[in-house]
Amino acid sequence: MTRGGRQRGTFPKGTPLALKTNKRGQVSFVLRTVPRLKMNIRTIDWKNNKVRIIDQTKLPHELVYLNIDKLKDLWQAIKILQVRGAPALGAAAALGVYLGIKDYPGKDWNGFERELSNVSRYIAGARPTARNLFWGIERACDAASKSKNKPVFQIKQAILAEAKKIMLEDMESCRRIGNYGAKLLRDNSTVMTICNAGILATIDYGTALGVIYRAKEQGKNIEVFSCETRPLLQGARLSTWELHKKGVDVTMIADNTAAALMRQGKIDMVITGADRIAANGDSANKIGTLNLAILCKYHKIPFYIAAPKSTFDLKIKSGREIEIEMRHGDEVSMILNKRFAAPKGAKILNPAFDVTGHELISGIITDKGIIRPPYKKNIARILGK
Ligand code: MRU
Repeated sequence: MTRGGRQRGTFPKGTPLALKTNKRGQVSFVLRTVPRLKMNIRTIDWKNNKVRIIDQTKLPHELVYLNIDKLKDLWQAIKILQVRGAPALGAAAALGVYLGIKDYPGKDWNGFERELSNVSRYIAGARPTARNLFWGIERACDAASKSKNKPVFQIKQAILAEAKKIMLEDMESCRRIGNYGAKLLRDNSTVMTICNAGILATIDYGTALGVIYRAKEQGKNIEVFSCETRPLLQGARLSTWELHKKGVDVTMIADNTAAALMRQGKIDMVITGADRIAANGDSANKIGTLNLAILCKYHKIPFYIAAPKSTFDLKIKSGREIEIEMRHGDEVSMILNKRFAAPKGAKILNPAFDVTGHELISGIITDKGIIRPPYKKNIARILGK
């Protein structure tokens, strides 16, 4: 390097660098940075006394917002995946608790508590797998209990305040996950992902995709392969849409293309989200995640899970205790509720999630740092009380 220029070796290994020539023709390395990625949308919010969500069933064709003020409509939105993804479900659940009790007319705690537990049970029945849904309900109920000696009006406000806090915390924790995870990605890395663990699965940033967004913000060039994610195509419809909008180089692939790309040496890392993580690190995520983890093991490619603390269920010892949601067979036999792709009456099995054993996971990128094996010990140490 010529006089006055900064040499490559003065930057840490893996830092994205660009060459710069000054007026005198001196060349130096400078840090390659890009502006914060644009496309600021919010998956779920509390606006004008209503829960405001993006209707994810309409993407990628239309960006439509729904304003919901009735618990049964929110329940339905969760059930049919208008709002989905573990962290977004945590916020939806807490806001749902508020919608469910906001018009309760009674004035005493005992009656209020009974109503609260009916509402909680109702929301909990919407979907069984994502830990965050139950965590959101618990947070809302705990906030209510802490205010139980106050007038009912104030207890209701405490629940709403807690739901808002959950949303703010998620925005923060996804960015932490992004910071920790981006350290794993070098300039010009290629990442494969499945389902959608991005903006649309959280409040506004993402877990697995948050890692990619952060790396991009740091100026690294990252290429992404997004598995389409049959049967409901969250990878094709949602991840490909938001990555593209964020200016990330994304290529959508059919799920069964993953092995071929790995074999060709095109994939540096797989990063996925999680819906529930047991105390031993076993992680439930969208059906097909286990296939990728096994393929990674075979091809010696690092396989990472990215998830906030709220997705961990430390009360369960292993993934065997995770309830896997079974969904209607029509989701498999039809393409997005439109055309039958199987003979009518065909037998169909449609588990929405699978469990990846901890032995297949290289690390879990959390908002408290990256957890590595041995998971039982390290999860307890980093996330336990
Ligand atoms: O059925 P979905 O679309 O709710 O499934 C979502 C996933 O599997 C996500 O990967 C998971 O919730 C993590 S989101 C950060």
